[in-house]
Amino acid sequence: MIVLFMLGYYMTDLSYMDLYYNLSYNIHKSLGILAFELSVAMILWTLYCKIPQPLASHKNWEQIAARLAHITLFIMMVLIPFSGYAISSSGGKAVSFFDWYAIPSFLPIREGLEDFAGEVHYYLAYGTLLLVCIHIAAALKHQFIDKDGTISRMLGRPAE
Ligand code: HEM
Repeated sequence: MIVLFMLGYYMTDLSYMDLYYNLSYNIHKSLGILAFELSVAMILWTLYCKIPQPLASHKNWEQIAARLAHITLFIMMVLIPFSGYAISSSGGKAVSFFDWYAIPSFLPIREGLEDFAGEVHYYLAYGTLLLVCIHIAAALKHQFIDKDGTISRMLGRPAE
């Protein structure tokens, strides 16, 4: 996901004439499809597994905020790649996955759909980046200021 954010930022500054224009877009699309597939697997795994319960020391609003952030992140992990796919396939073109297989376009060909999907992709991607930064700051605060072992729990280890 981090590489996808960086590549998205980098490639949209390139001109059509740039040596790395096609390469960077193709890698972004293929990695984005991979991120989508892994995200769906992770969401199914999370639904199947028992979700760790929040600590009793966490305030009510903190528990609600954390739950909302997790749900939003999961939704974004599906919507961001989908909106990216919509940009690429809105002209009826298939999207190639590392030249291995191609996902056909199943969206209706409509005037302005590519631009609309581009706007949606932009706002969802950068909005999610902001949410990820807030989430990291909250986890660091819990780990190092409250010392409640939140990062250990995020990494699957029980809090000390
Ligand atoms: C989690 C996955 C993804 C992330 C985090 C991500 C992130 C980004 C970011 C930050 C940008 C730059 C936005 C801008 O400045 O306009 C971008 C652009 C773009 N992404 Fe993605 N992306 C993802 C998945 C995909 C997928 C799966 C595709 C296509 C199959 C895709 C296609 C594109 C295209 C075509 C652009 C250029 C849009 C333009 O030129 O306006 N992305 N992406």
